[in-house]
Amino acid sequence: MINSEIRMIKILYRYSSFLLALILIAACSELNTDIPPAPKVNTHGDSDSLYSPTSPNYHVKTIADSPNGWDDCKECHAADFSGGPSGAACNGCHPGIGAHQTGYLDPSSKGFHGNFIRNNGWDMISCHSCHGPKYAGKVAVPDYTIPGCIDCHTYYGGPENCTTCHGSSTSNAPPRDLDGNTSNTSRGVGAHQAHLGANVNGKSLTCNDCHVVPGGVYSHGHIDSDNRAEIIFYSTIANIITNDESSPSVPIDPNQPTYIPAPVYNPADLTCANTYCHGYFKNGNVDNKPIWNDPSTSQCGSCHGDGSNPLPKTQSQGGNHPGSNNCSVCHGGVVDATQKIINPSKHIDGLLNLFGNDIKY
Ligand code: HEC
Ligand code: HEC
Ligand code: HEC
Ligand code: HEC
Ligand code: HEC
Ligand code: HEC
Ligand code: HEC
Ligand code: HEC
Repeated sequence: MINSEIRMIKILYRYSSFLLALILIAACSELNTDIPPAPKVNTHGDSDSLYSPTSPNYHVKTIADSPNGWDDCKECHAADFSGGPSGAACNGCHPGIGAHQTGYLDPSSKGFHGNFIRNNGWDMISCHSCHGPKYAGKVAVPDYTIPGCIDCHTYYGGPENCTTCHGSSTSNAPPRDLDGNTSNTSRGVGAHQAHLGANVNGKSLTCNDCHVVPGGVYSHGHIDSDNRAEIIFYSTIANIITNDESSPSVPIDPNQPTYIPAPVYNPADLTCANTYCHGYFKNGNVDNKPIWNDPSTSQCGSCHGDGSNPLPKTQSQGGNHPGSNNCSVCHGGVVDATQKIINPSKHIDGLLNLFGNDIKY
């Protein structure tokens, strides 16, 4: 006999009295429609005992004793425990139980448990009651242990680790983004790594230069319904003011205004405007608006200069920067004679590096 037949027979045997009752009810109702309604059927025993850990009818014990564990319940209560032919749902008392649908361990399946979590507002709290508050599993009844999430999610914090839903083993930030993309032309990935540790052209930023960073997955402000990250520039560096009376290291240029950045990210076209970093400064390109997922919009002359020439605005262009292209003569702490950035930590750091000194301007 094939396995499924053995299984069906076991199930039929276990629930034979219930099935008999069903057949009788069906038969009666065909023969005589006037008889009083059949008494309520208690498939598994009276309902209090189903939930009493000391009763032999305790529903968890039934699972533990079933030949195929709770797969045997799915025959009548549906593959996702939503009720099925039994009409009795498990998910009213166990909201997270629907995570165990067909394919729940296969990342390429629609029924994958990650998708269930994603489709339920990234809720994993509903898993705690059975998988434990720390996702380490739980002994439900003696000899019946529910496995832990941390068997597979081995990073600190288990599935609540910051890299479970985005980022990688080297960074909490994308790639990979929430949809699994890794290309920097994807919206969720974009220029993250160009701004973070791997930044080769300027000072490295941290997440809170652009986001409010949550203390934990379920901290206020982290996950909200739209699945889009909020860009909030509390960043000191994006807001640096130049050509201001209070920054006397180089003379202010009376022909130019004080530059007070008002950083803003536009989620419609993914541009970033009015930031100190990208040009909102004295002799800089104040209208510059780089596109988050288009690396070609941040070339050398984009924040200061013109095209690929980084020379800031000179007098003829409405600025006051000296007209010489030999940057390294005066800015040798940052660039070499070939205009290669040799010390990224001093570039786009808020201070002008002039003749080896880091000054306000
Ligand atoms: C042969 C079909 C069948 C199988 C298999 C089955 N059940 Fe049920 N179950 C029912 C029916 C029908 C009801 C609703 C009527 C009743 O309570 O008798 C029910 C009700 C329940 C209830 C009460 C739910 C409520 O809302 O009142 C629990 C708990 C339950 N089943 C647990 C289990 C567990 C655990 C398994 C697997 C070990 C299982 N059942 C397997 C048919 C089945
Ligand atoms: C009326 C509410 C109710 C219904 C309906 C119900 N359960 Fe439960 N279930 C409980 C309670 C209460 C516990 C006790 C353990 C706990 O949650 O801490 C429990 C425990 C469990 C456990 C063990 C988890 C643990 O922490 O010990 C499993 C597995 C389980 N139920 C499966 C099912 C399945 C499968 C169904 C549907 C066939 C079902 N339950 C229907 C209330 C319910
Ligand atoms: C048998 C191994 C295994 C167990 C156990 C397991 N997971 Fe997963 N989980 C995975 C795999 C594999 C992935 C996909 C990883 C990937 O795509 O890189 C994943 C992905 C996820 C994701 C990411 C979803 C997304 O769309 O990005 C979440 C959240 C998650 N699991 C939560 C849990 C929770 C909560 C538990 C326990 C209740 C759990 N997992 C138990 C293997 C497991
Ligand atoms: C009512 C109890 C219950 C709840 C709630 C519950 N689980 Fe489970 N989970 C189980 C049981 C029991 C098993 C073991 C299944 C088996 O024996 O086949 C399991 C197994 C798993 C596994 C496979 C583990 C392994 O090592 O093979 C994953 C993944 C999983 N659950 C994810 C989740 C997620 C995600 C949630 C919350 C959204 C969740 N579960 C909520 C009871 C529960
Ligand atoms: C230079 C600014 C900046 C920095 C620094 C930054 N981000 Fe982002 N982040 C963005 C932008 C812009 C988006 C895209 C927003 C959108 O969808 O419109 C984004 C999106 C995200 C997303 C959503 C991805 C998706 O799939 O939609 C996550 C998660 C994220 N960032 C996490 C981080 C983390 C963690 C860090 C620090 C390690 C970080 N970010 C640093 C600007 C930044
Ligand atoms: C269960 C999945 C999940 C886990 C785990 C997770 N995140 Fe997120 N994260 C998201 C989602 C979804 C977004 C998109 C934000 C939204 O919906 O507004 C996001 C966005 C972010 C952002 C962008 C700013 C924002 O809130 O919009 C930062 C920063 C971030 N996460 C940091 C973290 C940190 C730090 C951790 C670990 C403490 C973490 N995330 C763990 C799902 C997760
Ligand atoms: C993302 C915008 C941006 C890009 C792109 C950029 N710069 Fe800058 N650069 C700045 C800012 C802002 C300053 C102002 C001083 C500071 O904050 O470090 C600056 C200052 C400089 C200075 C003066 C020394 C110093 O850092 O204080 C030199 C030289 C320079 N940049 C050269 C270059 C070269 C060469 C390139 C192309 C390889 C380039 N920059 C691309 C934003 C940019
Ligand atoms: C002769 C010396 C000299 C050379 C050569 C020079 N700079 Fe400067 N640079 C300065 C001085 C002086 C300032 C401060 C100007 C001011 O704000 O009044 C400055 C400021 C800057 C700033 C900050 C914005 C500003 O104008 O205040 C940037 C950016 C910059 N230089 C980039 C460059 C680049 C790129 C080159 C080469 C293409 C270059 N500089 C060549 C002297 C020089």
